[in-house]
Amino acid sequence: MKKTSLETRDLTIRFGGHVAVNAVSCAFQAGTLTAIVGPNGAGKTTYFNLISGQLKPSAGQVLLNGSDITSMPASARTHAGLGRAFQLTSLFPNLSVMENVRLALQSRAHLGLDLWNVWNRHKALIERAEQVLEDVALAAKRDAHAAALPHGDQRKLEVGLLMALDPDIFMFDEPTAGMSVDEVPVILDLIRGLKKQTHKTILLVEHKMDVVRELADRIIVLHNGTLMADGDPETVIASPIVQQAYLGTAPVEEAAA
Ligand SMILES: Nc1ncnc2c1ncn2[C@@H]1O[C@H](COP(=O)(O)OP(=O)(O)OP(=O)(O)O)[C@@H](O)[C@H]1O
Ligand SMILES: [Mg+2]
Repeated sequence: MKKTSLETRDLTIRFGGHVAVNAVSCAFQAGTLTAIVGPNGAGKTTYFNLISGQLKPSAGQVLLNGSDITSMPASARTHAGLGRAFQLTSLFPNLSVMENVRLALQSRAHLGLDLWNVWNRHKALIERAEQVLEDVALAAKRDAHAAALPHGDQRKLEVGLLMALDPDIFMFDEPTAGMSVDEVPVILDLIRGLKKQTHKTILLVEHKMDVVRELADRIIVLHNGTLMADGDPETVIASPIVQQAYLGTAPVEEAAA
């Protein structure tokens, strides 16, 4: 039995009269990659914003390892192990790629005052930063200003910063959106690598069904803010409700009629 690391209970947010996330109850397990799918405007990003603390719910709870974190600010959730890819625009656009990764690593290293210890940790930090840059294929652009990177490289840096933080729970919102075909495998390889670390909980919002099919252990479907389906990938993808509402095709029996 896998351990529940993250859970939402009746999580709800209203914007005026519009219910963007509607009483979503769902538990996520360590060692599992859950894909969250659904049409544009279904509430996927809003659900992430509620979990990571960027938005406060109108009702319901978020629990991290069994503790209610609903009123915890976003920064405290990050410290508690909840990791969301940064929006690069809110980071350090005028610092280099390398400096951004180092800052992300430092933020979780809590360097002490023993100078020898600081020096050793500093060396380890640089080595780890080099490794992260290799992993996201940005080593050649380490000295470029973050703001000057092309879009695909910025997305890679976002993922690199998340890797540097090394949270227990990884939240990816369309991590390959806007990337060229040759850049996509870099990100998919990283997510594959994360899956091998069996204690990580991974949430992935993704529109590309081939990616979902390959990576997901479980799929949940959001539609109009409501959790509409939840199960293993084969079953969920084949279910008539998903075929109709998400994939936009008629169920097999209707198509044949
Ligand atoms: N801050 C906000 N104020 C008002 N309405 C909002 C706000 N954020 C999201 N919404 C609305 O909530 C609904 C869900 O949006 P959300 O961005 O979560 O969808 P999504 O599933 O991520 O879509 P996509 O696949 O296009 O990224 C939409 O109708 C959107 O317009
Ligand atoms: Mg979205």
